[in-house]
Order: sequence, then C-alpha cells, then structure tokens
Amino acid sequence: MEPGALLVFVGLLFFNSESASSAVCDVNIDPSRVVVRFGDPVIVNCSTTREDVFEAGWESSINPVNEPNSKITVWNVSSLIVWDAEPKCFINYMNEPRQCVEKLDLVIYKSPESVSLIAPEFMKIGVESTITCQVLDVAPARYLSVKLYKGDEQLGNRSFTHDSTRFPVNESVPFPVTPTRADNGAEYTCVAELQLGPGGPKPNPTKRSPPLKMPVVYKPSLLSAAEENVEVREGGSIVLKCSADGNPAPKYEWKYRIADNVQEITKDGVSTVNIPRASSSNDRVYECHAKNRYGVATKNITLTVKGGTPWIMIILLIIGVVLAIAIIVGGIKFCGR
Ligand SMILES: *[C@@H]1O[C@H](CO)[C@@H](O)[C@H](O)[C@H]1NC(C)=O
Ligand SMILES: *[C@@H]1O[C@H](CO)[C@@H](O)[C@H](O)[C@H]1NC(C)=O
Ligand SMILES: *[C@@H]1O[C@H](CO)[C@@H](O)[C@H](O)[C@H]1NC(C)=O
Ligand SMILES: *[C@@H]1O[C@H](CO)[C@@H](O)[C@H](O)[C@H]1NC(C)=O
Ligand SMILES: *[C@@H]1O[C@H](CO)[C@@H](O)[C@H](O)[C@H]1NC(C)=O
Repeated sequence: MEPGALLVFVGLLFFNSESASSAVCDVNIDPSRVVVRFGDPVIVNCSTTREDVFEAGWESSINPVNEPNSKITVWNVSSLIVWDAEPKCFINYMNEPRQCVEKLDLVIYKSPESVSLIAPEFMKIGVESTITCQVLDVAPARYLSVKLYKGDEQLGNRSFTHDSTRFPVNESVPFPVTPTRADNGAEYTCVAELQLGPGGPKPNPTKRSPPLKMPVVYKPSLLSAAEENVEVREGGSIVLKCSADGNPAPKYEWKYRIADNVQEITKDGVSTVNIPRASSSNDRVYECHAKNRYGVATKNITLTVKGGTPWIMIILLIIGVVLAIAIIVGGIKFCGR
C-alpha cells in the first residue's frame, strides 16, 4: 500500500470508531465511578436506550454476567476480593455498531495495615537527619498521600500519582529534618491518607503513626560572657558563677590555684566557686569547663583582690581639703579689706 493510501485508511478507521462510540453506542454505567473497599459489596448498573439489544453483560474476572435480550445488566458482587477486576460492560446489538464496550472506572482500596516512623536515636542541632515514614500494605498507591508532622506543623509530604499498581504496596518515605535547639522533645507523627476522590468514603481513610520523640543533642554553650573580670576587697566575699546549656546536661570542672577558703558548688545547672574571706592568695584566673560528650565551653573569670583603701588616696584627699579651706579663708580676708 502507498503511504498516502495508508493515511487515508487510518483516517477513515479513526473517523468511524469515533462517530460510532460517541453517537450510537449508548452504554450508560451507573454509578460512573465506583470506589470500593477490598472485600466490600459492589452493585453497578449498565444500560442502553437502544431497542435492538441482542445481549448485555459484564466481562470480569469476578462475577461475569451475560443476559440475553436485556437493556440493563447489573454487576453484583457481594464481596470484591480481587485486585485486578477490570469489569467492562458490553452490549451486543442487532444493527451496527454491533458491539459496544465500556470500562468501569473502579477503584479498589485498602487502608494501610500500619503507619510507623523510623528515626535515629537522637538528632544533632544543625545536622540533617532522616525520619522515615513506613506505610505497610496499602492500595492503591496512586491515591496515597504521606505527610510528616512536627506537632501541628507539616514538615513534608509525598504522593505517588504516577504509580499505577493496583495491588497493596509498602511505601517508605524518607524526610530530611535539620533540628534546632527548640526541637528537643518535639513530637513527630506520620499521617497516611488515601485521597480517593469522587465516590470515595468521606472523610478520606487516614491512619496516623504513634508519635515519636527524639532528643536533640548539642554541645554546651555558655549562658554568660566567656571572659569576666571581677574585683573583691580583701576580707570580702564573692561568688563566681558558671553555667552552660547543653544536651546532655554539661558537667562542670573548675581549674584554679587551690586555696583553703574556696568551695565549689554545682546546683540546678549552675556551678559556683564561693570565696568567703578573700585574700591575695585568691587573686588569679578561675577557669570553668562545661563539658558533655559533644563538646566543651570554657569561661575564664579573672579575680582581683584589692587591698584596703590605699594611703596615697587618703593623703591626696587631705591635701585637697586643706587647700580648699585655705582658698576660702584667703578669699574672705581679701573681701573684708
Ligand atoms: C440499578 O437499576 C435498578 C433497576 O433495575 C434500580 O432499582 C437501581 O436504583 C439502579 N441502581 C443505580 C445505582 O442506579
Ligand atoms: C445482589 O446479589 C445478592 C446475592 O448475591 C442479592 O441478595 C441481591 O438482591 C442482589 N442485588 C441486586 C441489586 O441485584
Ligand atoms: C507538599 O509539600 C510542598 C513542599 O515540599 C508544599 O509546597 C505543598 O504545599 C505541600 N502539599 C500539601 C498538600 O501539603
Ligand atoms: C510489606 O511488608 C511486609 C512486612 O515487612 C511484608 O510481609 C510484605 O510482604 C510486604 N509487601 C510487599 C508488597 O512488599
Ligand atoms: C582561659 O585561660 C586559659 C589560660 O589561663 C587560656 O588557655 C584559655 O585560652 C582562656 N580561655 C578563654 C576563653 O579566654
């Protein structure tokens, strides 16, 4: 056959089938879209308004139907327990077009058997971790939506619209999560939803994972300046404080030259060095190390112990007072002349 003739032939074929199915086939399926849970009953009508019916029926791997001389045929399944049922309604007529077939838009679904989260034992601040949502035994994947929540906040979602599998599947969906300090103790949940569309159950079948809490670990960071200079008068008392935030809670270690009157106390996450009667032997740098297994923070407190009021200050003060009196007295005498 010549290419031109072939084109005309294909064109005619196309034109014929097009006009046949839309104009005169007249096969009406009711309801036009069926959403059924695996194992549930289904009843669907198929009918025609044409009078020249020879036979009507349903072609299917379960409960096929064949009814002679009937303008209506019912596909009636008391328990739909096959995943690949592809029911088609056919009607055979006496006149052209003699056979018309219409596929039923059928969705067979099954809620997930289980939804769970797989996560590391702990996460580190600023480091990306993966929280995986595992959805077992769900169908069909095409309508599945998997979402990860932190509290009420949605962190991510995933759908499988291009998956045409009709059978139940397992889906593992990894979500990247980079925690901040505020996420310590946050509750994560995975939600799997079948968004089945028109004709589906309302609300959509939804299953949540048990909530999961994960510690967020981080190295200690100081709650005050890393460098401090403090002064105390000889004989006075002073408390040097060091505190840091970390998870796990930091342990404190002080380094300084030991003296009898110095006492270390750590309570409620604050470590202190108490010096009740300061003397020049306490005059030095106190180094505080706040440690956990992820790091250490160091604070240096330089303590200066001042002696009593220095003599030079007292002498200067006396000279000042004497000078002032002399000037005032001199001024009065001058005026009085
Ligand atoms: C199917 O047809 C029967 C009559 O044969 C009717 O009673 C029934 O309501 C129809 N069902 C639907 C879903 O249209
Ligand atoms: C469907 O079949 C069941 C028995 O399998 C029957 O009881 C019921 O009446 C049928 N329904 C229709 C609409 O034909
Ligand atoms: C799914 O997540 C994307 C970002 O990853 C977001 O833009 C979209 O709105 C989310 N969709 C739904 C239905 O939550
Ligand atoms: C889904 O996972 C379960 C449990 O791990 C397994 O028994 C089943 O065979 C899996 N199904 C598929 C379709 O891979
Ligand atoms: C604290 O002092 C020690 C020596 O006394 C020094 O090695 C360290 O770098 C100091 N740290 C800070 C944060 O200043």
